[in-house]
Amino acid sequence: MALLTPTGKAGKLRSFRGDTKMPDKVDMEKIVSLCKRRGFVFPSSEIYGGLGSCWDYGPMGVELKRNIKNAWWRAIVQERNDVVGIETSIMMHPRVWKASGHVDSFADPLVECKSCHLRWRASELEDQKCPQCNGELTEPRMFNLMFKTFMGPVEEEASTVYLRPETAQGMFVNFENAVTTSRKKLPLGIAQMGKSFRNEITPGNFIFRTREFEHMELEYFVKPGTDEVWFDYWVKDRFAWYVNLGIREENLRLRQHEKDELAHYARNCYDIEYLFPMGWSELEGIANRGDYDLRQHTKFGNKDLSYYDAEANEHYVPYVIEPSAGVDRTLLAFLIDAYHEETVEKETRVVLRFHPSLAPMKVAVLPLSRNEKLTPLAKEVYNNLCPRFMTCYDDSQSIGRRYRRQDEIGTPYCVTIDFESLEDHQVTIRDRDSLAQIRVPIEQLEKTLESKLKGEPFEATPLWTTRQK
Ligand code: GAP
Repeated sequence: MALLTPTGKAGKLRSFRGDTKMPDKVDMEKIVSLCKRRGFVFPSSEIYGGLGSCWDYGPMGVELKRNIKNAWWRAIVQERNDVVGIETSIMMHPRVWKASGHVDSFADPLVECKSCHLRWRASELEDQKCPQCNGELTEPRMFNLMFKTFMGPVEEEASTVYLRPETAQGMFVNFENAVTTSRKKLPLGIAQMGKSFRNEITPGNFIFRTREFEHMELEYFVKPGTDEVWFDYWVKDRFAWYVNLGIREENLRLRQHEKDELAHYARNCYDIEYLFPMGWSELEGIANRGDYDLRQHTKFGNKDLSYYDAEANEHYVPYVIEPSAGVDRTLLAFLIDAYHEETVEKETRVVLRFHPSLAPMKVAVLPLSRNEKLTPLAKEVYNNLCPRFMTCYDDSQSIGRRYRRQDEIGTPYCVTIDFESLEDHQVTIRDRDSLAQIRVPIEQLEKTLESKLKGEPFEATPLWTTRQK
């Protein structure tokens, strides 16, 4: 396979956003409250008082999450000829984590309060007293962030297994399987997404840092010597992915890791950072892991993982470029960036301006009222759209309130059926971002919505821009 041109695919910002200016900083409290109110994210085990840093996704959250994962999978696996997908088990052979360095290095130095026994990260303390009770602290001790459990009925050291702290190792140990079965040549990527677990010392900021989260990781294997070029390619490509899905470029930046900050396996690393309410923070890391992982597994697994390059007639251990993102953190960034408050007819309108492909609901069908003459046509329209788009039906409360509800979950289009619809067999489509409205014949509704959801501009006649806001 020819080497792909290592240039990023950054496209232009799509125009669906409208012109509304976002407040400089979105308050995390507002996001948390909207998530609860509209069914995006709930505290885990809420009726028992919640469980620290664990969250559940509600009906809207699960759709948004799935759309984000699908967008990543499409871009990373399905639209490329040089990446294959896999799904590996959460529990792996314990020696995998010895080889990867996690058993020895995935640890933080912690101090413990001798009075209240709370543990703290030594590096984050200003003085040598417990921030909780001012008690005396122990000397720092290393605390491993991997969750341990036991496989089988005997709880002993020999049956210890770990919940994976990253999905990456599943790709490294399957390198040979993927190369052999895909019959592809290098450069070749292996991608997967799935749950990871880290016993974080300081989880928090809602779903930003949790102890159970989902990873989306790509391990892209290349010939040594071409690694820096591919590293650049993936940094640009991943940055463009966020921009093309609607995150404002001014809220994203790249930050190169300092030498003393690099993980033990990394030769180079950039973070894509997002301007979260608590400040610039890591959204995704892109690392050049060199040949560290394959060499470690060669050593610990006693299995040669070098690659035979038929064109060059040589064996080498490939280098790996790794773009690694968290689904939950990405979802939080998309939520925050989409969140807008604006004043419409003297009322505050909260609207999530999601990219249409990410919006949990694409269309809402809203009969003007529950009048029995409107219901059959409205239901018919809903039933026709349902198999095509994620559609909801809502006939409770005033049309204005129903529009606001849809705005708050970011539904791009509302379809309203009124009494004129019974006469002229036309319905109104309202655009979430501009609030403009157009009238279309019912038989053209599906096609029109499809084009609009794909980004066709929403041009409304002056008559319809003033009606039924
Ligand atoms: N395999 C490399 C790796 O795991 P990382 O920087 O530790 O690298 C990559 O994690 C991404 O995973 C982060 O940029 C973040 O989006 C997400 N992530 C890491 N720890 C997380 C946590 N505790 N909660 C939520 N997301 C997390």
